[in-house]
Amino acid sequence: MKRIFLLAALVLLLQPLRADEGMWLPVLISQRIGDMQAKGFKLSAEDIYSVNQASLKDAVVLFGGGCTGEVVSDEGLLLTNHHCGYGYIQRHSSVEHDYLKDGFWAMDRKSELPNRGLTVSFLERMEDVTAEALKGYDKSMTESMRDSVVRANSARLIQNAVKEGKGLRASVEALYYGNQYFLFVYKIYRDVRLVGAPPSSIGKFGGDTDNWMWPRHTGDFSIFRIYAGKDNEPADYSEDNVPFRPRKSFKISRKGAQPGDFTFVYGCPGSTKEYVVSDDVRYVAEVSDPQKIDLRTQRLDIMKKYMAQDQAVRIQYSSKAAGVSNAWKKWQGEAKGIQKMNTVASKQAFEAKFRQWAKGTEYDGLVDKLSALYEKRNPYYHAYEIYSESIRPIELLQFAGNVRAALSAKRPIDGTVESFFKDYYQPIDEEICAAMLKAFDASMEDGFKPAYFKEKMAQYGSAEAWQKDLFSKSLFTDKAKVLALTPDDIDKVTSDPAYELSDAFNEWYIETLRPVISETGEQIRLLNRDYMRAQMEFEPNKAFYPDANLTLRVAYGHVQGYKPSDAVEYAPVSTLKGIIEKDNPDIFDYNIPQVLRDIYAEGGHENQPVCFLATNHTSGGNSGSPVINSDGNLIGINFDRVWEGTMSDIVFDPDVCRNISIDIRYLLFVVDKIGHAGYLFNEMNFAD
Ligand code: ARG
Ligand code: ASP
Repeated sequence: MKRIFLLAALVLLLQPLRADEGMWLPVLISQRIGDMQAKGFKLSAEDIYSVNQASLKDAVVLFGGGCTGEVVSDEGLLLTNHHCGYGYIQRHSSVEHDYLKDGFWAMDRKSELPNRGLTVSFLERMEDVTAEALKGYDKSMTESMRDSVVRANSARLIQNAVKEGKGLRASVEALYYGNQYFLFVYKIYRDVRLVGAPPSSIGKFGGDTDNWMWPRHTGDFSIFRIYAGKDNEPADYSEDNVPFRPRKSFKISRKGAQPGDFTFVYGCPGSTKEYVVSDDVRYVAEVSDPQKIDLRTQRLDIMKKYMAQDQAVRIQYSSKAAGVSNAWKKWQGEAKGIQKMNTVASKQAFEAKFRQWAKGTEYDGLVDKLSALYEKRNPYYHAYEIYSESIRPIELLQFAGNVRAALSAKRPIDGTVESFFKDYYQPIDEEICAAMLKAFDASMEDGFKPAYFKEKMAQYGSAEAWQKDLFSKSLFTDKAKVLALTPDDIDKVTSDPAYELSDAFNEWYIETLRPVISETGEQIRLLNRDYMRAQMEFEPNKAFYPDANLTLRVAYGHVQGYKPSDAVEYAPVSTLKGIIEKDNPDIFDYNIPQVLRDIYAEGGHENQPVCFLATNHTSGGNSGSPVINSDGNLIGINFDRVWEGTMSDIVFDPDVCRNISIDIRYLLFVVDKIGHAGYLFNEMNFAD
């Protein structure tokens, strides 16, 4: 009895450092349920995760390979983001049916569109297998022996796990840098069909202008349905498949999100690093992010200049520019947030205390060893990052490499060639090529530059002259010439200046950079395992959540606005009124469908909620995650964070780290009033 009290007291003590920080493992949620309930949650740990009964986890999926989705009907209806379904919606689109532009609504089951390659993964169970994974390991072994032991044991665990049922996939994941291993068993459904998507002017409203921003008014949702064989088990696409019957689906709440309301995001954050040393954070904030931002600014400026001049170019490059600008904006918030939080200094202060504590223990000297490794790694890693963000993105070079690979493998090249030229505007690539050669020259230390690069720069005298000659001589700018290539023409390809340049850099990377990067990376990974364990011993009363690795997590918090800067304060809920305020037919990102203007003009919709902010600790991969209220019902779909808080992947600031969700009532509004697909409501379960 006494022990139980002690344990309970301990659990209460185990608070994370900052309120609402953390992405917790569902299987261990009993350790946090007390705190969740104290903050308003009315359900139990078993309701969140259970292997004995249906629980909320059975209604959450990993959507594709990098988003989250949730089941909202007994017939497999699934919600995720528009930006998660984007690629699939695009593949079904053509000039005749432009579903990206006009939206898509299947008016009956037969019209739902299959998506080759799209899967959703349900977590069957997760389980601590640390002892099994380390079976046969003893401390006298080297690290590489330990790795082989873990690998062999994991392979066996996985093999046994997938035998348990149909369509299973299993993996053993290292948590806390390999201090713990967990087995994850997923059931993978592979017939997932598109049911509905709003027009992009709603689903992507605000575009890259509003991306990572508040106030936000994006209707970022799309609707799919999971199909199964007649036995309800995973099956390849077939007309005979039937809607999947889930163990659990979310009930929808129309109560909405009021400031202060409890919120809980259940999904799959991709990658965070909260426990690394100050040297790692300093590199990110002071070297890596600023460098990458600068190189991307240059590329984006060039793209935007040409996109503004020509509608066709805008269409060709909008998705490319979106890809470049997403991380570009995120890094700006990350670097700024780390500076503002003084994370490097506070980590250094922590490390000073830690060093004292570690004296005479097995952790003595650990932080210094890590520092030394970063010092060795960073110049090489920096060179690699400059290369990745300058030379590598030059489209012509990538194209030359792809064609060469296809020819060597004796694969047909027509598809590659057609899709390249469909969205290629040579003046953009030329200008980017010259700018990036110049930027590489300026940002890279001389000792690091590839010999090939130095020779060419000496030969031509300037980046522009080199670029001009390259584009005038390369056969890859000429579609007909490329299409005429056969596997016998490999020599023509390898002596082409575009291929030569990309190959010289690739070789330089493999020979000069990669050996140091992988060796130091490996050692850092191993020392981080000790450092993680040491931090847990150093602060035994702190609750540590494992860094994200695309496994299912629980993040809980509450609806709240924030103050981004002096004298500015953001309210947490946006409305349709704000969409009308932003509406502008002349600005692509803000040009709403006429029908939405007409509906608004009818009156009575000013206060229609659209998006809301909350304090949930989320990351990339949490897009599409269900946002759940204190009753366990669905009130929204997570899709973004505010840029001022994107350092939450490294350090969480409760003052400004906010996730952004679409209010489920806006989804219902759009389905009904824009899609006229209100029939979908018949299969949804409404809690209130
Ligand atoms: N920032 C969000 C995320 O990281 C949304 C990205 C898609 N939207 C866009 N406008 N590019 O995925
Ligand atoms: N937009 C991100 C995603 O696609 C979510 C985030 O980074 O907050 O997962």
